[in-house]
Amino acid sequence: MFPAEKIPLVLSHIKNYQDSSQEAAEKNDDFELSATSTEKVKTKELYDNTALRWVRTEPSSLSDFTARPAVIEMCEPIAGLQILDLGCGEGYCSRELRQRGAKKVHGIDLSQKMIAAAQAQEAKEPLGISYEANCATDLSQLADDETDLVVAVFLFNYLTVEQTKQCMSEVLRVLRPGGRFIFSVPHPALPYMGQKNPPFYFQVDQNNYFSGRDNLFPGRIWKRDGSWLDVQLVHKTFQDYFESLQSAGFSTLPVLKELHVTPEHLQLDAEFFSPIVDLPLHVAFEIIK
Ligand SMILES: C[S@@+](CC[C@H](N)C(=O)[O-])C[C@H]1O[C@@H](n2cnc3c(N)ncnc32)[C@H](O)[C@@H]1O
Repeated sequence: MFPAEKIPLVLSHIKNYQDSSQEAAEKNDDFELSATSTEKVKTKELYDNTALRWVRTEPSSLSDFTARPAVIEMCEPIAGLQILDLGCGEGYCSRELRQRGAKKVHGIDLSQKMIAAAQAQEAKEPLGISYEANCATDLSQLADDETDLVVAVFLFNYLTVEQTKQCMSEVLRVLRPGGRFIFSVPHPALPYMGQKNPPFYFQVDQNNYFSGRDNLFPGRIWKRDGSWLDVQLVHKTFQDYFESLQSAGFSTLPVLKELHVTPEHLQLDAEFFSPIVDLPLHVAFEIIK
């Protein structure tokens, strides 16, 4: 358990870093990725350095509108479930799942600072969620056949094809028979849609859909307030996701939803959402053990 008395100290360190890096980045008023974000930094470092920018209690970034509500809806019925949230970040989805009646939610994330931010929110408004800093490719601390639902919201875009297979085998092992696995990823076609503007951008350089497999692309996803989050994407094709599920041992057919901007998004904020109308933004998968 992370000691509660250290939380304010950790949060103030993260905030100091973030204030200076966002300020530096904001001086770049075109939409080129900044020098820092184009470096292919390690995932843990990226999220340790930007944890506080992810903290939110209301939807703020593009995918908070165009992906997470749809993924959470796919998780219904949630009441009474024992849920594992892989790549939980600062706990945005974990909190929503618990507030919708999950019996138990356990979040795992590679970034200690993300976990500290999640625990700080849990200390502020306790919901009974447990969090753990760990890697999603090895869940040996968790028992077989005990979890009703595993969710992974934008986790697999940080894993290679091999790591995705490892993680999915672990997911299959911890799920109870009949349990569900629901995950979302950026649409495999999205990085190649040529955008260099808000509300998202991935720097694919000379790579393309097949040549780019397993390559890491730095990117940026904007919030409606004009600020942004630096993200990364290890590119995988649709076939990679289907084959990873199969090689992990899932034997049913996944339900798949291709998520995009809806008329409701346009009604809410036409300026923000209209540049990406009709683009394939995210994919959500649901598969049963
Ligand atoms: C885009 S964020 C999404 C966070 C959260 N799921 C949400 O929807 O707000 C991706 C998260 O995946 C975590 N992550 C990346 N690789 C991981 C790994 N191997 N094991 C566990 N978490 C990982 C990152 O630290 C980061 O917090």
